[in-house]
Amino acid sequence: MDRIRIVGGNPLNGVIPISGAKNAALPLMIASLLTDRTVTLENLPRLADVSLLVRILSNHGVDYSIDGRRQGEEQDAGQTVHMTAREIVDTVAPYELVSRMRASFWVVAPLLARCGEARVSLPGGCAIGTRPVDLLLMALERLGASIEIDAGYVVAKAHKGLRGAEVTFPKVTVGGTHVALMAAALAQGTTVLHNAAREPEVLDLADLLVKMGARIRGAGQSVIEIDGVARLNGAKHRVLPDRIEAGTYAMAAAMTGGDVMLQGAKAEHLKAALDALEQSGATVDASEEGLRIRRNGGPIRPVDISTAPFPGFPTDLQAQFMALMTRAKGVSRITETIFENRFMHVQELARFGAQIRLEGDSAIVEGRPVLKGAPVMATDLRASVSLVIAALAAEGESMVQRVYHLDRGFEALERKLSRCGADVTRISSGD
Ligand code: UD1
Repeated sequence: MDRIRIVGGNPLNGVIPISGAKNAALPLMIASLLTDRTVTLENLPRLADVSLLVRILSNHGVDYSIDGRRQGEEQDAGQTVHMTAREIVDTVAPYELVSRMRASFWVVAPLLARCGEARVSLPGGCAIGTRPVDLLLMALERLGASIEIDAGYVVAKAHKGLRGAEVTFPKVTVGGTHVALMAAALAQGTTVLHNAAREPEVLDLADLLVKMGARIRGAGQSVIEIDGVARLNGAKHRVLPDRIEAGTYAMAAAMTGGDVMLQGAKAEHLKAALDALEQSGATVDASEEGLRIRRNGGPIRPVDISTAPFPGFPTDLQAQFMALMTRAKGVSRITETIFENRFMHVQELARFGAQIRLEGDSAIVEGRPVLKGAPVMATDLRASVSLVIAALAAEGESMVQRVYHLDRGFEALERKLSRCGADVTRISSGD
């Protein structure tokens, strides 16, 4: 298993190109199952989760091809991938594959909408609390599907097709909204989703579906209306920039007292996180090129945050912000309202000398002027990168173990950081 060695203390200075968003790429790829025509996705990030989803989709019959590198194109530039599900050859998504990535469960929606049936293993994914799929199944049932659980598999059937319906989510769910959008796009009649997720990735999926011929109004707001159509066409779409990657590097820049340009990042996708960063003493400038984040000399001020669905502070940046707060001048409170077990980074951050106490759904962080490098272990995707941020600012050497978590969601992490002056080296298991 690979490890990452970091010698802390260097401020991050330079330009970091922001990749295509993992959390948009996955539902966009899954949407290719809805049509027998070709869906072309540009700016697809090179990530372990993307490769795994390609394998899962090809199992259902998706042919794919990847464009080669173009003249003058950077080594890390996003890929252009063509996906064609001319025929669905298998409506079963097996445990071995789905258990490795939770989002792959969402294939249930296009398989059901297009083939009238799907048998999909209950999901796995990051160990950040129980992550049920009851609301996804509720939405499909509202659209007329029959759902049974059989030996760890969800068996969904709608042999006469799905029908439009009113669907009210009791809780905001990104996955539930993706699933309902894809299913309703091919249902008969009109569907109205209430309390839908407003995340930019939901809007990106809706944009692709509209290009494919779906009739969708209100995506990006909490009520979305979908008039079902009989079939969808192919389309070409560019994956939106990764707001979580951008927010992560923004916090790393603030933490190390650096100055970075996050090329391609969009301020409107990150407002709550940027507000918190500014309150902590960082300067944020948004321009056509992207976001410039710097903290020159001044102290890190403590800021209380509470995670919430978009446009609130993203749960996927909670661990990174906590890393920043471990060096604040004072005490901050970080409250997690989305996932109940998303504090596994706390005990690892403590290895750097961070002082953090848990109180129910909150972490009370007492900032320290100095962190000390330490061996630490990555636990889940976003938690792992919070350890990288802490290590970048800690005195001396840190070794981050189990970096396969990072490879699931951060494209070219070491290269992007090294180019900005960080001392980061990957040590492959063979070395
Ligand atoms: C997506 C993101 C993930 C992010 C999360 C919240 C992807 C691939 N993943 O995950 O990075 O942290 O949104 O922004 O896009 N819930 C239920 N029943 C359900 C579904 C969800 O109770 O059927 C609960 C979850 O346990 C959680 C909350 O709803 O407490 C939000 O989860 P959801 O928005 O569905 O997260 P994901 O779509 O899995």
